[in-house]
Amino acid sequence: MKIITSIEELRDQLSGQLRTAFVPTMGNLHEGHLSLMRLARKHGDPVVASIFVNRLQFGPNEDFDKYPRTFQADVEKLEKEGVYVLFAPTEKDLYPEPQEYRVQPPDGLGNTLEGEFRPGFFNGVCTVVTKLFSCVQPRVAVFGKKDYQQLMIIRNMARQFAMPTEIVAAETYRADDGLALSSRNMYLSEAERAEAPALFQSLNFVAEEVRNGHLDVFQLEHRAMDDLAKRGWKPDYISIRKRNDLQPPNAGDLAQGTPLVVLAAAKLGSTRLIDNLEI
Ligand code: PAJ
Repeated sequence: MKIITSIEELRDQLSGQLRTAFVPTMGNLHEGHLSLMRLARKHGDPVVASIFVNRLQFGPNEDFDKYPRTFQADVEKLEKEGVYVLFAPTEKDLYPEPQEYRVQPPDGLGNTLEGEFRPGFFNGVCTVVTKLFSCVQPRVAVFGKKDYQQLMIIRNMARQFAMPTEIVAAETYRADDGLALSSRNMYLSEAERAEAPALFQSLNFVAEEVRNGHLDVFQLEHRAMDDLAKRGWKPDYISIRKRNDLQPPNAGDLAQGTPLVVLAAAKLGSTRLIDNLEI
């Protein structure tokens, strides 16, 4: 595997490649990330991964400095997956001057759910993903459903800008007890780790109720949030949305069986976890 930090060198290395499959990450890789590498391999060749902790998507009170950086271990994992190039630019490489041009997602999609609790987050994500795509020029890029809203925003962005990159979705990789793998799980105490699968259980409860014809979405969301709160969680949202635009469904959508997804974010102690489930 070639480890490349400069954009120019990356361009040289990938010039003429028409089937590149790309997996952007912020490192601290776990099996969830590696499942994306495997899916990428099915969709293209060579597989290119990136590791870049993107300051633009962190809020002033978020954990940019504390974000876990485990470069050597990450490299070993990517080598085992047969990744051809790891693009790991420094901040100077990727942002040699202040990144003043930004990619702003539409309010409806960008300011709801995660966007409401993390202002500017999706602007930072869209900007860095656009820049990474411009560097790697992939035919395919893989994103996890774990970050469902991110996946939808990137997919719409690629379509609206007519980017020559197909966005492929990877299923959420879970521990045996249902907890979605995440870099943040390492912050959980032993007791919190034992409690953490309750988030996925709560999504399953909501999905099951909807499938069984429970159509009072508002009541269902509040019941699920109350149940988590009683167990010591601080839920930001549990929300049933339409899959394609992440807007709340109306009565017609519910009656017609429009595809839905339930998304959740909640704090357990000081760790904020997100998860979702297609209904
Ligand atoms: P990061 O959190 O490192 O995630 C990189 C990719 O791995 C994302 O597409 C994410 O959805 C996926 N992923 C994480 N955990 C997963 C799991 N348990 N199962 C399946 N996929 C999982 O998301 C980012 O980085 C950044 O926002 C980035 C897109 C790289 C832009 O900076």
